[in-house]
Amino acid sequence: MSIQKATALSNSNIAFIKYWGNRDAIFRVPLNDSVSMNLDHAFTTTTVAFDAQLTDDQIVVGGKDANETTRQRVVAQLDRVRALAKIETKARVASQNNFPMGAGIASSASAFAALSLAATRAAGLELSERELSILARHAAGSASRSIPGGFVEWIAGSDSANSFAVSIAPPEHWDLRDVVAIVSAEEKKVGSFEGHAAAQTSPFLSTRQSGLPARFHLVRRAILSKDLGLLGPAIEEDAIELHMMAMTSRPPIFYWTPEMVRVIQAAHHWRAEGIAVYFTLDAGPNVHLICESKDADQVAARAGAIPAVQRVIVNAPGGAAHLIDQHLF
Ligand code: DP6
Repeated sequence: MSIQKATALSNSNIAFIKYWGNRDAIFRVPLNDSVSMNLDHAFTTTTVAFDAQLTDDQIVVGGKDANETTRQRVVAQLDRVRALAKIETKARVASQNNFPMGAGIASSASAFAALSLAATRAAGLELSERELSILARHAAGSASRSIPGGFVEWIAGSDSANSFAVSIAPPEHWDLRDVVAIVSAEEKKVGSFEGHAAAQTSPFLSTRQSGLPARFHLVRRAILSKDLGLLGPAIEEDAIELHMMAMTSRPPIFYWTPEMVRVIQAAHHWRAEGIAVYFTLDAGPNVHLICESKDADQVAARAGAIPAVQRVIVNAPGGAAHLIDQHLF
């Protein structure tokens, strides 16, 4: 095999119904169905080249050699691709985010979706969307939802073969916006992987799980009927529940910060003034403010004026993971 190169771009996504806890942690088969929207202004571009001259995989993230944890995760995904393609060739990987890593914009979602698409194509494979979603899921659960476009549901399934994400509606279906209020760009101290394992220790796990099917159907219906008044309260409840699960794990995990609460309270205040805006959160300190496009400028200006907010990024619904021609090396 000579040098085979491919570059893919994948958007990150924000979950409206969160994935938190696994039925099978090794294969990342989740406890519950989740729903998300891809983010068009938060994406990862990844180039993969399999090169017979290499004696080891070379992994560069954001222009620097990857740290050991990231390296192991990337090499594990390359190994899955090599097994599928029946090759042993080592690869050169370069990956670039257009947003800060580890700050509540899920970089692992877009990173592993882009890696999965670029690596399979560079290895000469043409996987279906479902097969790619399953492959991406092995590296990061939320990456399964960054393979299809627009508004996406990940049906938990019962085992690895039937746990994958599909699009509910394309990006142009609904002019929704996610105004991300960045209050900290620091790496989070407890990663999602530990969080998923810790979910099993929260006394509220069964309460959350029993309420989720009804919320899932409501969120799905709200997206299909473009009803923000229906969607908003459900996504706020789910975000609060994610953090309640984290805080009541043993030992507890606090992603919750005073700055985050300030933005949430401001959003509630703006809503009382008549702006239809609702918040959601990830396993990090930043607040995602969900509104329709007609209100996005106002929400972004107000969020940007909060002293704790360092920066805002406005996202429209993003498309599916896809190949691009511009290689990173
Ligand atoms: C809070 O997909 O980052 O963002 O599978 O361990 O990589 P790993 O976890 P990850 O978990 C995402 C958790 C979340 C909620 C969500 O995106 O659904």
